[in-house]
Amino acid sequence: KILVLDFGGQYNQLIARRVRDHHVYAEIKSFETPLEEIKAAGYKGIIFTGGPNSVYDMTSPHYDKAILDLGIPVLGICYGCQLISWMSGGKVESCKKSEYGKIEITVSAESKLFKDVPEKSIVWMSHTDYVSEAPEGFVITSHSDDCPCASMENAEKKIYAVQFHPEVTHSEYGNVILKNFLYEVCGCKGDWVMDNFIENTVAKLKEQIGDKKVVLGLSGGVDSSVAAGLISRAVGKQLTCVFVDQGLMRKDEGDFVEETFTRLFDMRFVRVNCQKQFLEKLKGITDPEEKRKTIGTEFYKVFWDKIREEADGGFFAQGTIYPDRIESGKGDAATIKTHHNQVKMPEDINFDGVIEPLGDLFKDEVRKVGEKLGIPKELVWRQPFPGPGLGVRIIGEITEDKIKVLQEADAVFRDEIKKSGIESSLSQFFAVLPNVQTVGVMGDHRTYDHLIAIRAVTTDDFMTADWAKIPYDVLARISNRITNEVDHVNRVVYDITSKPPGTVEWE
Ligand code: XMP
Repeated sequence: KILVLDFGGQYNQLIARRVRDHHVYAEIKSFETPLEEIKAAGYKGIIFTGGPNSVYDMTSPHYDKAILDLGIPVLGICYGCQLISWMSGGKVESCKKSEYGKIEITVSAESKLFKDVPEKSIVWMSHTDYVSEAPEGFVITSHSDDCPCASMENAEKKIYAVQFHPEVTHSEYGNVILKNFLYEVCGCKGDWVMDNFIENTVAKLKEQIGDKKVVLGLSGGVDSSVAAGLISRAVGKQLTCVFVDQGLMRKDEGDFVEETFTRLFDMRFVRVNCQKQFLEKLKGITDPEEKRKTIGTEFYKVFWDKIREEADGGFFAQGTIYPDRIESGKGDAATIKTHHNQVKMPEDINFDGVIEPLGDLFKDEVRKVGEKLGIPKELVWRQPFPGPGLGVRIIGEITEDKIKVLQEADAVFRDEIKKSGIESSLSQFFAVLPNVQTVGVMGDHRTYDHLIAIRAVTTDDFMTADWAKIPYDVLARISNRITNEVDHVNRVVYDITSKPPGTVEWE
């Protein structure tokens, strides 16, 4: 396995993912991890990540120089490169001209790192400091117009450093360079695959759980579903899944989740239906924040009550994944986010321990495991769904009738998108009930009924998003079907707002 030593750069998780793409297991740890721990862990290689600061600023993260003498190969990236220079007695200075973006480098010396990489290629740079003088024992292996040292190495000590970012796809041969480090320098074999993951995890779970019970909160999202699948494989009916249906899910979704899990997996499935109770609590509430709070509070009340009932020693399981556990610059598990929007378990509930079988995986890896476990595509590739559910898609007071109207309209919308073949090009799409009534005409009658807004966005990370350019003919079919098939809807509008200034959800 490979250690990604985290100095707080923005691409740290990406580095670990890229390493895993080459079938080598990688884990991220904080620069605060003691040297002894690193020594004991048996890493085949260490990668120093980028970081936001200058190595001369003593408040920026540093590391014990002895790490370079362990005999373990090291690759420093960006700040990591400057850090190696600084640790080894080289010189780092501010660039006369910062480099940012795609830059051409020229390879100037024979290097294992540049095997199968052409003399000139494009890399991604983002730095304001650079290595102006390589340390003794190091050879500069490439440069760009503005950066005399784009990479350097001490091949004898197996210490390599690159000023650019091989982990981002803008670096044309970045993947080859990383692979060379892993295979040529560290001698990794690339035998880490998902199948082993399932087998190993199931074996480990069996041993850990023994004949005890496990209780897991199932939300119907990808992570908790896959965690449930793995634990069920390991211990079958010793697993109880608690699924709270607060009545604010999409049409038939609660039934779909129940049907899928009871059919696919051996487990006890406990469903709590509590729509009435939620509607009662939500009566008269129109303020978005108050709504969210009410739904959240009520959800956890119901959820923990049920968990308390089911808890009988044994283990509590959750679908925490790797990104939930890492905080930038802190590395492994500095703060563990509890699942479901970070709510702590009440202290009077007693479990012997917590199980997080996906704690080392990234989202796309979780999806792969899910597919291998036979969980249907609808669940594995499920688009994000907000915790408060349709509650944030009904503006104003939430009533049973409005939920019904929205569920029906949303189901028609989803069905048409599926049929149109553009589903995979959209990141998220759903219907909204803005609580507006407008005048319409149906036959010879005047109507005064609900308006439905439809929303579809494309995005990489949901921090920003574009409204999706759904073809007019698809929009026409959606509008036609919603107004024809859904009672109490006489008008459909399409939300053409990007984020910012809009958010994805309406509340
Ligand atoms: P916004 O509306 O903030 O949404 O642009 C960005 C993404 O987050 C989802 N979202 C939530 N997810 N609990 C969640 O788990 C929430 O309370 C919540 N609110 C919004 C939203 O669907 C979108 O994908």
